[in-house]
Amino acid sequence: MECRLLLLLRWTGATRKQGCFASYHHYPRSPGLLETMFRATPRTLRLRIRASFNHVNRARLLAANLSSTAVRCQGSTGTVDDCDSLPTADDCRSAEEHEHALKAAARDGQPGHLGRSYLYVPCTAEKMLEKSLTTNSDVIVYDLEDSVPPSDPDKTSARSRIAHFLLTRHGSLPSPSRIAMRLNSNVTPFFEEDILQAMRLPCVRTLVLPKIHSAQDLHFVSEHIYMTYRAHKIRNPQGPPVQIVASIESAKAMHNLGEIASWQSAWGPEQGGKLSALLFAAEDYCADTGIVRTSTRQELLYTRSHIVVTAKAFGLSAIDMVCVNYKDPEYLRSECEDGKRLGFTGKQAIHPNQVDIVQSTFVPSDKEILRAARILKQMEKAHLANRGAAGLELEGGGMEMIDAPMIKQAERVVRIAKSAGLPIPEVE
Ligand code: COA
Ligand code: MG
Repeated sequence: MECRLLLLLRWTGATRKQGCFASYHHYPRSPGLLETMFRATPRTLRLRIRASFNHVNRARLLAANLSSTAVRCQGSTGTVDDCDSLPTADDCRSAEEHEHALKAAARDGQPGHLGRSYLYVPCTAEKMLEKSLTTNSDVIVYDLEDSVPPSDPDKTSARSRIAHFLLTRHGSLPSPSRIAMRLNSNVTPFFEEDILQAMRLPCVRTLVLPKIHSAQDLHFVSEHIYMTYRAHKIRNPQGPPVQIVASIESAKAMHNLGEIASWQSAWGPEQGGKLSALLFAAEDYCADTGIVRTSTRQELLYTRSHIVVTAKAFGLSAIDMVCVNYKDPEYLRSECEDGKRLGFTGKQAIHPNQVDIVQSTFVPSDKEILRAARILKQMEKAHLANRGAAGLELEGGGMEMIDAPMIKQAERVVRIAKSAGLPIPEVE
């Protein structure tokens, strides 16, 4: 076997402090361990192996080798998933570059991966697909729906264009946690081919489903996911669950929001998919309801707030509407800030130049991080002094009472800041 085997091991189930990954470079002909990186306590953790191979049989064979290493390490068993999703040595110019790519992939796949911007990339033109490789958007949504003309030949060629692209550009693709595909809705004649194609591409980890009006729609989608595992056997059921993003675009969906957000697949997340987010499609929603949009966004306040709160009730992400004024950065910024204040976790984008503004807004500002760090410190001191509340000096003078709910908020701010790699200041 002349291939060089590179393996990424990631431990799940660790506490946040322990949570981490290890990276092995292992050569079948000289099976020494070239590098290990451990930052976890291995004993108690479940092991998951993500490996990069070009061939599934080879993957199985080599996984068996690896399991024994894994067993020796921590008395645990492993599974192989995503064989095709990680960069292979052949895809990189040097071993160093390869290692860097693998670490980046592991970082992206860690719990806490941010979903601040969802950039739509129309599958109508090769140029746009190529451009998608240059964006740092947290999520890239390859679109088969509204950005593709409605004719059968256009839909068919968009579907084959994206499949060819994702299969041939394999080595330069972002990690699967960043790749999504928006399918045509489940009532269209395109849906069945779309979902089959998406499931055939192991790097597509997230499906964005437009025009979800009820839990029944999600059940229908899930049945198709299940069939691709069971009948078609085109995806490894041991891999990570397919994430489903439900796009809310109608009065009926709003009426059924609770049942949509609480939906769980009858076949379990592993084989039926897992709902991960509610997303608000404002233009379709206005078309459905007759709501007239204004630049104040006042007429959408109820709907947007309702979506956020319902998503949060069921532990889902909430993705705000597209800003269609794609050449006006100030307008975009104000819409992002508005969405962040309402509690949205991210926002859709339609142009690459929107991504940076979206991503820099949907993380805490320096001021917010400093305030969170001060609250945590003050509350720690208060608890040591046997008190449940304390006073916090305000920046512009004056005092503010802080107590338990503020700790929760501050912890959330610090958690997001850490996921985004932002520094947390030391405070007294
Ligand atoms: N994804 C990837 N690349 C994109 C892109 C996108 N969403 N939008 C623009 N680009 C590329 C263009 O191809 C162009 O590439 P080039 O520099 O290699 O020529 C570059 O970015 C600059 O584009 P620009 O000329 O500013 O935009 P445009 O006038 O060509 O297109 C839109 C404007 C709005 C039509 C286009 O951005 C678009 O189609 N966005 C997606 C729309 C969509 O997905 N709608 C459905 C979801 S709501
Ligand atoms: Mg639409």
